[in-house]
Amino acid sequence: MQKGKNMKVAIGSDHAGFELKEEVTELLKTLGTDVVDCGTDTSKSVDYPDFGEKVSSLISSGKIEKGILICGTGVGMSMVANKFPNVRAALCNDLFCARMSRLHNDANILVMGGRIIGKDLAAEIVRTWMATPFEGARHLNRLIKIKKIEECLNTHGT
Ligand code: RB5
Repeated sequence: MQKGKNMKVAIGSDHAGFELKEEVTELLKTLGTDVVDCGTDTSKSVDYPDFGEKVSSLISSGKIEKGILICGTGVGMSMVANKFPNVRAALCNDLFCARMSRLHNDANILVMGGRIIGKDLAAEIVRTWMATPFEGARHLNRLIKIKKIEECLNTHGT
């Protein structure tokens, strides 16, 4: 489970992340991961919120445990994903953030920038992110505080 085997992952990208999405999908399959590909399916220009929404709603509802989103920088997809309740999306274009986003933040969506990193680094980031567990303990209290902010904003607005 920790290494991606028998786990289900939803993946999505815009045109700028399409090529990397295809590479990452292949890698996940070789790790034994069940991949739900939410598109896009070509390099034709599309709007990243449409694909960010597809993946994020699956994670938000609990239908799928983990997601991966890729756009040009990863910034836009991060903005979209973190609008969804229960989503903790982490933009990780380096290995340290990938590891820490699991250990300390229990990130459930990994976001990468297809115009920032190459496929080899992306593969290492994905392997690390999939294999690293949440540390819990004091970090759990912090996630509970994030959840309380989310609930408070849903009830009272800004
Ligand atoms: C698309 O040109 C680009 O804006 C998008 O992929 C992403 O980088 C946005 O944050």
